[in-house]
Amino acid sequence: MTTLFINIKELIQVRELSEDKVYGKDMGILPIIKNAFMLIKGHTIIDFGSMDNLSLKKTDKVVDLTGKLVLPTWCDSHTHIVYADSREDEFVDRIKGLSYHEIAEKGGGILNSAKKLQDKTEDQLYKDAVTRIEEIIKSGTGALEIKSGYGLTLDSELKMLQVIKKLKETFPIPIKATFLGAHAIPSKYKENREEYIELIINNIIPEVASQKLADYIDVFCEKGYFSAEETDCILKAGAIHGLIPKIHVNQFNSVGGVKVGVNNNALSVDHLEVLTDEDLSILSKSDTMPVALPSCSFFLGIPYTNARKIIDSNVPLALATDFNPGSTPSGNMNFVVSLACIKLKMTPEEAINAATMNAAYALNLSEKIGSITRGKLANFMITKSIKSYNFLPYNFGSNSIERIYLNGIEY
Ligand code: NIG
Ligand code: FE
Repeated sequence: MTTLFINIKELIQVRELSEDKVYGKDMGILPIIKNAFMLIKGHTIIDFGSMDNLSLKKTDKVVDLTGKLVLPTWCDSHTHIVYADSREDEFVDRIKGLSYHEIAEKGGGILNSAKKLQDKTEDQLYKDAVTRIEEIIKSGTGALEIKSGYGLTLDSELKMLQVIKKLKETFPIPIKATFLGAHAIPSKYKENREEYIELIINNIIPEVASQKLADYIDVFCEKGYFSAEETDCILKAGAIHGLIPKIHVNQFNSVGGVKVGVNNNALSVDHLEVLTDEDLSILSKSDTMPVALPSCSFFLGIPYTNARKIIDSNVPLALATDFNPGSTPSGNMNFVVSLACIKLKMTPEEAINAATMNAAYALNLSEKIGSITRGKLANFMITKSIKSYNFLPYNFGSNSIERIYLNGIEY
């Protein structure tokens, strides 16, 4: 089955397969073809170009996109979308002045979510996650990472990862699973944290790996959670089982997580609301992708990642949602792209590059998604009739996406 899209006002993010990420000044360049055509066959993009160069070939279907823009679907490389329940009571506590840490200390936070998850069946967790994923696909997300980390026991971590496995089989988008057993120290181990870390290293990681339930490993490297040394040990234990690190670092404090991540060949280091010159210098010499999560900063009222400093230092940057019930109850990548422009002072070109090309890199999916490229999956979105791609972040809070194609099929 071939489908030819014609009269595309702007075909956005047109790349060669050899390009896997953009950094520094190049992030300000978004390659586009005006008045374009695009040809897809089955699941794949096979050709595109200017309408002036379209030689009429026989195709099964022709779709006229006059006035509309086409761009690759967003890639969301950091979510905690499998969870038991919302936490709006903590949201109200925060409005009244409590901090994320104070809320955690009075029984909220990650341990609150972990407690609620123990009582949920796999089926309930699955159904709720399906509803959330259906919603984010409609807002343009075409690839996704999902973390465990609200289990914090062998059984519950496995339960979460089984749910993610089922979600991978359910949806027509690539989904990657990350094991985040080191998300918080469970109350039971408060006085004996080494015991929990040993449990992760000696029992949970080997079991997760033997059941092939995770692609990546994550640690919340932060004061009050896991130190840089502990993070290093956990990542090394994961590496023995082939788990690649994608870690939470520098959300509130820089405690050495960037260095540990880079030294352990992390695919990405995420959050970075706090960033030292040393962290930046380490990142600039690495293949690790920094990931900013601006809707988390927005929701918690904490500083935004210094995207200008990162990009102006010739380092790449990706964007993701961090969708979770505590710090970011939203999986809307359009809002993330808007916030990146408004709060991180990224240009629309930089933000779109960060949410597509660089986000695909942070998922290790550059060969399949993240750009309009011959041979990549036909995962793309068609906008409403809008003047330019600048309208997407400008029109924040509204949906400018009209149609979504995944694997060449309209969703
Ligand atoms: O990325 N920082 C650690 N983990 C999540 C928040 C988890 C929660 O509060 O439930 C985050 O913000
Ligand atoms: Fe997170």
